[in-house]
Amino acid sequence: MSTNTVDILKKVTTATVARMKQNGEKIAMITAYDYTMASLVDASGMDLILVGDSAANVMAGYETTIPMTIDKMIYHAQCVTAGAKRAMVIVDMPFGSYQGDATSALHNAVRMIKESGAAAVKLEGGREIRESVEKILAAGIPVMAHLGLTPQSVNKFGGYGIRAKEADEAERLIADAHMLEQLGCFALVLEKVPSALAARVASELSIPVIGIGAGPDIDGQVLVLQDMLGMNVGFKPKFLRLYANLAETIDASLRQYIADVKAVDFPTQAESY
Ligand code: KIV
Repeated sequence: MSTNTVDILKKVTTATVARMKQNGEKIAMITAYDYTMASLVDASGMDLILVGDSAANVMAGYETTIPMTIDKMIYHAQCVTAGAKRAMVIVDMPFGSYQGDATSALHNAVRMIKESGAAAVKLEGGREIRESVEKILAAGIPVMAHLGLTPQSVNKFGGYGIRAKEADEAERLIADAHMLEQLGCFALVLEKVPSALAARVASELSIPVIGIGAGPDIDGQVLVLQDMLGMNVGFKPKFLRLYANLAETIDASLRQYIADVKAVDFPTQAESY
């Protein structure tokens, strides 16, 4: 009999990840933005799929996540939910869709959940978005919080460097993490913060803390799919482990295809009608 909390056949929910935290079982999350990749990710046994607004970079080629829109996030999330049968799908609320008044944030969250089929939303920030988080949670929509490096604030931070290295920012992050837990967020993402700080937050919170560039002593990890598959040539931050070199595989395949077409080596009789 399996000792895992996660039943390989059962849909992953907020209750599943809460049990995983209680049982000390690590949570694996990865991003996806389309049906084909989501189907492959789901079949792998992944716990959570994040339809990140990193789609702005990965899918649309923007330099930041700031131009991402609600309609585009809904489109990507629809594609992912079509492919994800077991993993829980969480969709990022894009920049500008929740930082203003809380009623608009609720309206946007309801639209995103209704039209995409995702099970939860993720929002970047702490006390400054408190009212939006409260209203969305009150409507019964699960919220994943996100602190540390919050890429939608890149212009405020002046880059993508490590956050909360100084004591005052670390204290603020810890206080925000507790506040978000008390409000009812079901999980927290910590991005690019010192490992010791992340470990402290994970030990103090009863909700799962999932990290990217936040060290090993937390409840789970998340990476951007195309980054860990080696498709984002030249992107090699310290926190990223390459699990494949698909850029090389794809390049070699395409070059071979071109050569075969030019040499009339493709298609053969067996590949023709
Ligand atoms: O948009 C995204 O992909 C994210 C993860 C990096 C956590 O927010």
